[in-house]
Amino acid sequence: MNVLIKNGHIVDPYQGIDEAGDILIEDSKIKEVKTRSTQPGAEIAEQISKSEDADIRTIDASGLLIVPGLIDMHVHLREPGYEYKETIRTGTLAAVKGGFTTVCCMPNTNPVNDHASVTEFIIRKAKQEGYCTVYPIGAITKGQRGEELAEIGTMKNEGCIAFSDDGQPVMNSTMMRRALEYSKAFNVPVISHSEDLTLSEGGVMNEGLISVTLGLRGIPAEAEQIMIFRDILLAELTGGRLHIAHISTAGSVNLVRDAKKRGINVTAETCPHYFSITEDAVKGYNANAKVNPPLRTGRDVEAIKEGLRDGTIDVIATDHAPHHVDEKSRPFDTAPFGISGLETALSLSLGLVREGVLTKNQLIEKMTLNPARILGLDKSAFRTGSEAELVVIDENKEHEVKAEMFVSKGKNTPFDGWLLKGVPLMTFSKGKLYEW
Ligand code: DOR
Repeated sequence: MNVLIKNGHIVDPYQGIDEAGDILIEDSKIKEVKTRSTQPGAEIAEQISKSEDADIRTIDASGLLIVPGLIDMHVHLREPGYEYKETIRTGTLAAVKGGFTTVCCMPNTNPVNDHASVTEFIIRKAKQEGYCTVYPIGAITKGQRGEELAEIGTMKNEGCIAFSDDGQPVMNSTMMRRALEYSKAFNVPVISHSEDLTLSEGGVMNEGLISVTLGLRGIPAEAEQIMIFRDILLAELTGGRLHIAHISTAGSVNLVRDAKKRGINVTAETCPHYFSITEDAVKGYNANAKVNPPLRTGRDVEAIKEGLRDGTIDVIATDHAPHHVDEKSRPFDTAPFGISGLETALSLSLGLVREGVLTKNQLIEKMTLNPARILGLDKSAFRTGSEAELVVIDENKEHEVKAEMFVSKGKNTPFDGWLLKGVPLMTFSKGKLYEW
C-alpha cells in the first residue's frame, strides 16, 4: 500500500528539517518529501498531489508531529535464555508501539552475548521475528565475569555495534583499559555500566533519608561517580571511545561535562525515569521503582535536566528491563532491578519539551541523530529512496498508562496509572505501517 501523509510538522535532525510538509511513501520507500516553513505568512510550497486512480491512503497529519524512527541504544530483549521475561518478538513490538524502529540489545542474556554464535542467533531471530531493526551489543568480558576479554573483533564482524557488560560493571581497571584500547582499534564505543560494587553491594535503592526510613540498604551516588571518573581517566589514557550508560546523579553530570570540556572522547545517556521521578517512588516498597542505578533525589533530577539541556547528556535511552511479575512481587530486597520502559519513553520525554528543558528538535536529536552518530549507524530518515522509518505523534493526546495493556511481557513500570501527554499514533518500521 502507498501512503501520503499530509500537513504534518516534520522534524528530521538528520537533514535539519523542522517544517510543515507532506511525505509520500511508495512500496515502503520514501518517494517524495515536500516541506514549507512553519512560520506564519511563509509561502506555501506546492503540496504533493496524488494521482486520482493510485492505490493510495491519505493521512491528514494536521497538528501532528512526524519524526524519524526513534533509536533506543539500551534495551534488554532477554532472548536467548529469559524468554519468560521478554522475547525478541515482544520486545521489538513494544519498541514499535513506543515509536522506536531501531533498538540495541544488551548482552546479559543466557548465554551471554560474548561470542559470535550468540550474536548471529540474535541477528537471525531479529530478522525473522523482529518488528524493528535490532543491533546487538556484545559483552566486554567473557560471561560478563570481568576476568577475560571477549572476542571483540570477531563479534564486531558478526554485527555487534558496541560493547558493554551492562548489568555488571567491569571492576578490573586493566580490563577496562584493554577494552577501551580495542574500542579505538575497532572504532566501536565501549558502554560503561558505572558502578563500584564495593560501595553498592547489598544496596537496593538510593542511599539517604528514605533508605534509612524504609530500613533498606542504600547505594550512594559515589558508587556511580567513582566509576565514571575512572573510566573518563582511562578514556583519556587510551584515546578510546567511552559511552556512559544510564546517568542518574548530579555528580555524574558534572564529571561528564568537565571531561567533554577537556576534549575527552566521552558521550552519555540517561533514561526517562531519571528525569521524571525520584527515590520517593520507592516508598511503600514499590519494587516497580527498583532500578539500577537507583532513582535519586530532586536535586539529581534537576541536574540531569540541565545536563540534557546543555548537551552534556547526548542520548535518551530506555534501559528497557522487563521482568516477570512473580519476580517483581518478591519482597523489595530480593526483587530484580529494572523498569519496562519502551512504551512510556516518548510520552515522558515529550514532557521535557513542555517544561522548556529541550526544544522539540533537541529532544528528537537525542533519540535519533545522536545515538546514530555514537553507534556509527547510517540513518537516512526522510531521504528519497530510503525505507520508510518514521513515527507520527500526537503531542496533545492524553492517555493513561495501563501496565496490563503493555505489549511487552514486562509490566514492571512505576508509571502505571499516570496520565501522560503525547503518543505515537503510527510507526513505519522495516517499511511496514503499524498503528494504534
Ligand atoms: O535496572 C537495571 N536492570 N539495570 C541494569 O543495569 C540491568 C537491568 C536488567 O538487566 O534487568
